[in-house]
Amino acid sequence: MAKQLQPRGTGWSAAASPLFGLVALWMAVYLVWSVWAAAWLTAWIVDGAVPSFGVAWALALFTWDTETTWPGLPTPLVMVTSVLFVGATLALVMVGLRVFHGVRGDAEDAVTALNTGDETVAELARPAAAEKALRLRRSTLLGRKARSLKDADVGLVIGGVKRPRDKSGPTLFASWEDTILAYMAPRAGKTTAMAIPYVLAAPGPALATSNKGDVWAATAELREERTGERVWLFDPQEVTHQGRGMWWNPLRGVDNVEAAHRLAGHFVLTIDDDSKKDMWGPAAKALISQLLLAAALDDETLAIVGEWLHDAKQPRPVNVLQDHGFTAYADALRETQNIVSETRDGIYTTARTAARCLDDPAIMRWVTPPDDFDVDEFDPRPFVRSRQTLHLLSKSRSAAAPLIAALTDAVFLSAEEAAEGQGGRLDPPLVAVLDEAANICKIADLPDMYSHLGSRGIIPVTILQSYRQGVRVWTENGMEAMWSAATVKVFGAGLDDHKIVEALSKLVGQHDVSTGSFSFGDGKGNHSVQLRRQEIMQGSDIRQIAKGEALLFATAARPTLVEMHPWYENPDAKEIGAAIEKAHGLITAGARNRLPHGSQTQG
Ligand SMILES: Nc1ncnc2c1ncn2[C@@H]1O[C@H](COP(=O)(O)OP(=O)(O)O)[C@@H](O)[C@H]1O
Ligand SMILES: [Mg+2]
Repeated sequence: MAKQLQPRGTGWSAAASPLFGLVALWMAVYLVWSVWAAAWLTAWIVDGAVPSFGVAWALALFTWDTETTWPGLPTPLVMVTSVLFVGATLALVMVGLRVFHGVRGDAEDAVTALNTGDETVAELARPAAAEKALRLRRSTLLGRKARSLKDADVGLVIGGVKRPRDKSGPTLFASWEDTILAYMAPRAGKTTAMAIPYVLAAPGPALATSNKGDVWAATAELREERTGERVWLFDPQEVTHQGRGMWWNPLRGVDNVEAAHRLAGHFVLTIDDDSKKDMWGPAAKALISQLLLAAALDDETLAIVGEWLHDAKQPRPVNVLQDHGFTAYADALRETQNIVSETRDGIYTTARTAARCLDDPAIMRWVTPPDDFDVDEFDPRPFVRSRQTLHLLSKSRSAAAPLIAALTDAVFLSAEEAAEGQGGRLDPPLVAVLDEAANICKIADLPDMYSHLGSRGIIPVTILQSYRQGVRVWTENGMEAMWSAATVKVFGAGLDDHKIVEALSKLVGQHDVSTGSFSFGDGKGNHSVQLRRQEIMQGSDIRQIAKGEALLFATAARPTLVEMHPWYENPDAKEIGAAIEKAHGLITAGARNRLPHGSQTQG
């Protein structure tokens, strides 16, 4: 990035021409003197003599009077020495400048301004980060020394502090009580520098959502090897073509209005049409939650909810709710069913759009009990106490997305319950990487959850492409809540929203920039320096953050530019590369065979 973040405001323009004359004159003097120095050096070596340097000597050189300039010395030898001499002095000057800048940096350069002096990020780096890990993970790191902790035990690696001139600074970690929010454009390193390394490094259970098979491909086999525990793959749209190796019952644990409402929320959030969402959304959510609760109470599966949504006159859910004592809920459902047909159709159509995955038998196979008993049921409760891995895949904005959100939410809830049973903090912590969260993991309560997940030992890593993408799902208020509750915020390459870019520029702050100017008058040159306040990173600098780099905002630390550590630059790159290769083979084979439904290759 140093390339783009050039020092600004050196005002040479108007005063340039007299200055260039002056510089050219001194260059000429330097060259003539260099030839003299080279001749003198040659004479010294071969035991000759050269007249002293002066105007007379220079004139002799210009008239090519070699008998005067270097009497008795071979001219070619003097010429060669001259070239070497000029080369050597220039090289010396360059090295000198480099060393000087390396020590001091460009005062105007953002990297220098932000990243010199480690005290403001010390809490995120070793040894402080390791000490903190020991404190937060008292039960699993008992008796360990801070020094002996591996990176993966210290925290999630955000990157190395970027230094002026290619050197890299200390590695910074998100701790086991942080909540992470990242914004990055496509191909900026979300998957390679965050999702994949975080899943591999998770000390306890790991969950990852993705709209592609890449995270699964890179981590599934290695996680299984390293933890010795099961890797689950919830892939209702067959992104990886690995067949169904698990199923999950979303209705398990839905035995009250609160739980039903929460589950219904994930469906309604997937309605893309904003006007429809505003007009019918709340009523559709109520309807879905009434039907979900009725289905759960009646020991039915999710499939029946789909049937009931197509039959607005169906009396059974009303009766079930009534029988189980949910009188108000039963009345509300009856009212919806008997409302004027236009309104009722609006509500039912919206609810059906939100829950359209219920109409897709291929998707429903993953959330309804299987005919064959080989397919294991995924239960979030033991999962959060294990070192297992759960991959959740869905194509962007697809029908299956609400199920991804619902399963993630169920894991969060189980993790919170488990944390309460462990003195408030889950240990080892749960790492939940929500890649492409705004497309496939629209958990309605996510912004609220951000304020307490970290303190329970649940580390959410929500990765979005832009702030606006988040606003579309969680609204402006929701995003503001998430923004302020996230303790680690990472801004990568390709941020393009002017509002966020300007806000970041303000948050990074200002510094003094010196502006040099040179004027030429009355036969002499004047150099003057002015100081002025200027943004350390202007909006355009933030827009130009390079791929693989990021601006980091962490609680109690100064904004810092970091170089992220993608998996392919880490020590285990070869191993991961091989795993990806192998997984791609499996995906290709799976796609070719179009595995018959119900077959199991994963587990
Ligand atoms: N093994 C690799 N070696 C070098 N570059 C890679 C490798 N794998 C991916 N990349 C590059 O890293 C960049 C970031 O990729 P990725 O993290 O998948 O982006 P995204 O932010 O969309 O998830 C891309 O430009 C990609 O081409
Ligand atoms: Mg990606």
